[in-house]
Amino acid sequence: MASNPSEHVRLFIPGPVEVRPEILHAQTRWMIGHRSKDFADLYARMQGKLKQTFYTENPVYLYTSSGTGIWESASRCGVRDEAKILHLTCGAFSERWAEVSQLNGKQTDVIAVEWGKAVKPEQLAEALQRERYDAVACVMNETSTGVCNPIPEYAEVLRDYPDTLFLVDVVSAFAGTKIETDAWGIDVCLTSTQKAFALPPGMAFGAVSPAVLERARQVKNRGYYFDMLEIDKHHQKNNTPATPPISLMYAADQQLDDMLAEGLDARFARHQQLAERTRAWVQAAGFEMYSEEGYHSPTVSTVANTRNIDIAALNSFLRTRGMTISNGYGKLKGQSFRIAHMGDCQMEHLDALFAAMDEFLQKEA
Ligand SMILES: Cc1ncc(COP(=O)(O)O)c(C=O)c1O
Repeated sequence: MASNPSEHVRLFIPGPVEVRPEILHAQTRWMIGHRSKDFADLYARMQGKLKQTFYTENPVYLYTSSGTGIWESASRCGVRDEAKILHLTCGAFSERWAEVSQLNGKQTDVIAVEWGKAVKPEQLAEALQRERYDAVACVMNETSTGVCNPIPEYAEVLRDYPDTLFLVDVVSAFAGTKIETDAWGIDVCLTSTQKAFALPPGMAFGAVSPAVLERARQVKNRGYYFDMLEIDKHHQKNNTPATPPISLMYAADQQLDDMLAEGLDARFARHQQLAERTRAWVQAAGFEMYSEEGYHSPTVSTVANTRNIDIAALNSFLRTRGMTISNGYGKLKGQSFRIAHMGDCQMEHLDALFAAMDEFLQKEA
């Protein structure tokens, strides 16, 4: 059945998420030229706020791509041809980043754990003792399985390997939980706009350390669009190498103001409460979490479909109430479903979702 594009359906899917009308509206401001002073002011203004939210003194580059573009950029610029990259994988997105490194011709090793589990710091420590790597790449919040990996613990391990770059995908964690880029020694910390940032999709941000630029100078084939040296050159002038998504930048500028006005700690605490509320519902409704105990994500819950419900039918029902959740990702389709509780989601939104889900489950029983 074709849906009506003007119909408002509140998205509880892990990206894109619901975007507030004020933020959507911010995108309708008049265009400015991207080589103008107004643009440089906008860029610089955003930069200060981005550094605050990334907890970093490093530059935060703006990419006109989704987060995948920064995967490519980080793998390509952070690893020399004669060296290797180590990927920690535990689900669909961490696996895909490893594939991106391979497709960019990088020698890639992988530590893979079963989906639903977290990669443990001891596994990383063992691998680093065995072999030298130019970079370690990992995903903090594996959106397919709802696992939040222990990044601060990896950071402890990596302190003994100062030549190994620490590349961290925080795509579905950023702005939903505190990510201390500098304190954790993260060299590339990357995110995209359509998750807990609660913006429309189409832009990505990467906080990049000087060590990455140093490494990039030793890499011959960095391409152009995702070359961090080229991006940095323009960044110094509060600019971008190519035409950026100005409308989306207006929205980001506004959203950063709103996030800081809410208070970052308050925002993270809200996400924590939403995650706990979701886990309480999961238990009360007779399901189980798919993610390993102790590693549940603060922004998206992957629920094992232990009651074997028809997830498509659940979503059709939810749609009549103006809401939608997500089926399991890839091979987990039907076996699990995902509830995103991130961005500007409030407790009353989750209450309404769970009331509707309970109603569906009662009818099914
Ligand atoms: C953890 C994670 N990393 C990377 C990506 C890819 O990001 P994008 O779709 O912004 O390219 C996603 C998308 O869902 C994701 O969840």
